[in-house]
Amino acid sequence: MAGGEDATAPGTAWHDLGDAAELPDEKLHGRLVAGVRLCYGRSGERFFAIDDTCPHAGGSLTEGMLDGDLVICPLHAYAFESATGRCLDEPSCSVRAFPVRVEGGTLQVRL
Ligand code: FES
Repeated sequence: MAGGEDATAPGTAWHDLGDAAELPDEKLHGRLVAGVRLCYGRSGERFFAIDDTCPHAGGSLTEGMLDGDLVICPLHAYAFESATGRCLDEPSCSVRAFPVRVEGGTLQVRL
């Protein structure tokens, strides 16, 4: 990549994910946004957005389970921190976590 850009650095554009108040707690959502397949949701009062595809064998994290602050992959149950994307079972399988915010009641992700 030219100029030493970091391919994992978040972008600068905010994208709407929907009404934050209508996002059910403890449920995972998936969407393709700006070419990135996301898994996002809310754990209590905290929102998160991470890559949807599990690097271990390609499971869709959106189809997994949210257990407190952890997203559990549906295929082999690897656990990912929703805030950081860090995989607790195999650190090399960690996914990206993207900045999120609520603006005027709308949940947004920066990509
Ligand atoms: S594909 Fe996710 S843990 Fe194996």
